[in-house]
Amino acid sequence: MRITMIGSGYVGLVSGACFADFGHHVVCVDKDEAKVEALLAGRMPIYEPGLEALVARNVEESRLSFTTDLAASVPGADAIFIAVGTPTRRGTGHADLTYVYAATRELAEHLDGHTVVVTKSTVPVGTGDEVERILGEVRPEGGFSVASNPEFLREGAAIQDFKHPDRIVVGVEDERARTVMAEIYRPLHLNQGPLMFTRRRTAELIKYAANAFLATKITFINEMADLCEQVGADVQDVARGIGLDKRIGPKFLNAGPGYGGSCFPKDTLALVKTARDAGAPTRIVETVVEVNDARKRAMADKVIAACGGSVEGKRIAVLGVTFKPNTDDMRDAPSLVILPALQAAGAEVHAHDPEGTEQARPLLPGVVFHEGPYDCLEGADALVIITEWERFRALDLERIRGTMAGHVVVDLRNIYRGERMGELGFAYTSVGR
Ligand SMILES: NC(=O)c1ccc[n+]([C@@H]2O[C@H](COP(=O)([O-])OP(=O)(O)OC[C@H]3O[C@@H](n4cnc5c(N)ncnc54)[C@H](O)[C@@H]3O)[C@@H](O)[C@H]2O)c1
Repeated sequence: MRITMIGSGYVGLVSGACFADFGHHVVCVDKDEAKVEALLAGRMPIYEPGLEALVARNVEESRLSFTTDLAASVPGADAIFIAVGTPTRRGTGHADLTYVYAATRELAEHLDGHTVVVTKSTVPVGTGDEVERILGEVRPEGGFSVASNPEFLREGAAIQDFKHPDRIVVGVEDERARTVMAEIYRPLHLNQGPLMFTRRRTAELIKYAANAFLATKITFINEMADLCEQVGADVQDVARGIGLDKRIGPKFLNAGPGYGGSCFPKDTLALVKTARDAGAPTRIVETVVEVNDARKRAMADKVIAACGGSVEGKRIAVLGVTFKPNTDDMRDAPSLVILPALQAAGAEVHAHDPEGTEQARPLLPGVVFHEGPYDCLEGADALVIITEWERFRALDLERIRGTMAGHVVVDLRNIYRGERMGELGFAYTSVGR
């Protein structure tokens, strides 16, 4: 199959490279010239484990290419995937579909032969109908189908997720689209990847329902963590105790500083808006959004309390600023709320992140970034762990105790054991224990 991927960000680039690895011929298009230039030179514009080798192999074998030229990439394609951003529209909470519709208009001009246009971006229910309407305006003679194929990959494990998905959801309104999509995903289907066909609107909603459910699960355990702190229970045991129930499952039950990232915050908001507009408000999700926002702010208060009620003039060392480990993505990361709140309370904030520094620096003015965890911790009054990168799990604690000026540790990911930290002389605070 010949596939054109419009948008070569986290989703477009990973999906494009994986489709090429299945044996399809893929052109990844992006309007960001610097991004395409980097890709053409073999440099990855994002940090994603395994991506560089996957891209290099498929470029080498002539199945994957990159361009800024959308017009030249459309003719001859069996399927054109739209994988552009759908951020929150400023001030409203709705998903901003400007990029999706702009890409649709651009590609419509150059369609030839029957082509399936697929929205891979996360888009609200009914977006496929509007994409179809725009294409029909430019090409009243038809010659296209519109499908929805939401993406469920997780940054940091994106290639594994794409190649071994729990399910592939495809929303179609006609047989031609169904046949082309089945052929594109045939290699995964052979691998037992369950391919699920639905109507287009249903596929669009499945993505939001999935993200809202996961955000709810995280928020639920975070509230349980607060309760555990008040009643002397341990949230990790509570999570295990409920997670072993197969109806609940163990994943997404790690208490922490609140969910962030490029998807949950904007997708929960967009679902709330869609539901309100449709006259069927999702009150649970509305509450999840509120509770999660408040939680990020509360984490700064937790640090201040652990420091004895004030961080004025104190040096706080933060390990991990990305919204989760194994990514450089800073979108809606809890650190973007916690660090400025500590600065506003008078702290001097130092930070280290294994991959996120470049993205984080412009978003966190005044924060001093360090190359490694140990130089970040030198002379610090307190250590705050915000992102649970593997390499923070086995820090040399004796060494740290020697270099820090104070001994306060606030572990917002529960990666250390309180008893051990106490034995080593740290004043240790975790979440929900
Ligand atoms: N990041 C994730 O983990 C993830 C997971 C599942 C779904 N999604 C969804 O996938 C979509 C894309 O997310 P992302 O994280 O890859 O975004 P991103 O911002 O990393 O990438 C989007 C890319 O599209 C390009 N672009 C925009 N308009 C274009 C146009 N007209 N022509 C060519 N290129 C254009 C941008 O330059 C950018 O490089 C979003 O809807 C998101 O919600 C993301």
